[in-house]
Amino acid sequence: SKGNHKHYMLKEIYEQPIVVAQTLRSYLKRMEGEVSLPIPEFDLSTIKRVTIVACGTSFYAGMVAKYWFEQFARVPVDLDVASEFRYRAPVMEDGGLALFISQSGETADTLAALRHAKAEGQKIAVVVNVPTSSMAREADLLLPTHAGPEIGVASTKAFTCQLAVLAALAANLARAKGLLTRDEEREIVRHLAEAPAALNGALAYDEAIEAMAHNIAGARDVLYLGRGTDYPLALEGALKLKEISYIHAEGYAAGEMKHGPIALIDEHVPVIVIAPSGPLFDKTVSNMQEVMARGGKVVLISDYDGIQAAGEGCMATITMPKVHPLIAPLVYAVPVQLLAYHVAVLKGTDVDQPRNLAKSVTVE
Ligand code: F6R
Repeated sequence: SKGNHKHYMLKEIYEQPIVVAQTLRSYLKRMEGEVSLPIPEFDLSTIKRVTIVACGTSFYAGMVAKYWFEQFARVPVDLDVASEFRYRAPVMEDGGLALFISQSGETADTLAALRHAKAEGQKIAVVVNVPTSSMAREADLLLPTHAGPEIGVASTKAFTCQLAVLAALAANLARAKGLLTRDEEREIVRHLAEAPAALNGALAYDEAIEAMAHNIAGARDVLYLGRGTDYPLALEGALKLKEISYIHAEGYAAGEMKHGPIALIDEHVPVIVIAPSGPLFDKTVSNMQEVMARGGKVVLISDYDGIQAAGEGCMATITMPKVHPLIAPLVYAVPVQLLAYHVAVLKGTDVDQPRNLAKSVTVE
């Protein structure tokens, strides 16, 4: 049931602290300060390359994971949407792990891609929320998310749980390759374990986000910008907004703005900038200033320090708790989900059952 919530989507957004904690329990040994896998005997040390394939929101989780696998485990990562992967003769060398991410475990394109990779001799890992699904059954390495049933068509809690599993997998891979010191592993565990509380902290801004949603509800087009792991978050924010509010939205790598999309900027196109303070902050802010200099109306999503440093002149700001960069993608998912939700409610669309969409896409 929806409990006290008006929609399943809102209920599921609010469940995130609990289900992420529940999911992390199978991937962290908190007391020991160790990361672990539900299948500890699976040998990750020989993995030479990772191929990540998924669709939609699950694909954006995979895109975040690419940054993590490269950064922590120093493995080359190939990433594609399932509907393209299958038809482009992808090169999969021996010793590769093919990783499929899916809430339902039944998405037809992803399942067909999995079978293709298996036929090519790849080890198959699956991050999946439905443990009885086809993908779960066909995996060599089953990595469940414990988000519970997701009813709203727009994926929310499954996404943050996928991110939790993928961060833990990246750390496991790094450790198997001898790239993590004990102290570094302990630090990663500590940061991941902070995610549920940080998600609660992000949810505390729900009312503030609701109050500014009218700034977006009247727009015809909205842009989302981010850099590094916030780039997939920008794509995810745009997808959430378009699928439930029917407003045209695009996510862009912040640095790509000046290569074309900046031509769209005027006072009618809100630009949502996702920029937690950290190593990439100044670069993203300079892209944001390019937008503002052209009359663009900016909504800056950052932490207190970021908003103090760069919030002036923005149409609105959304303050997030200050978090370690590793968990920022989980935390910053919350404001983009809530923003899409409140805009859709203002527009009066069917939030849980958007037009033309199905929860599980079982046709190719
Ligand atoms: C977006 C959304 C879809 C799914 C996509 C993949 O909110 O729900 O983009 O993420 O259809 O579905 P799964 O994860 O079940 O393979």
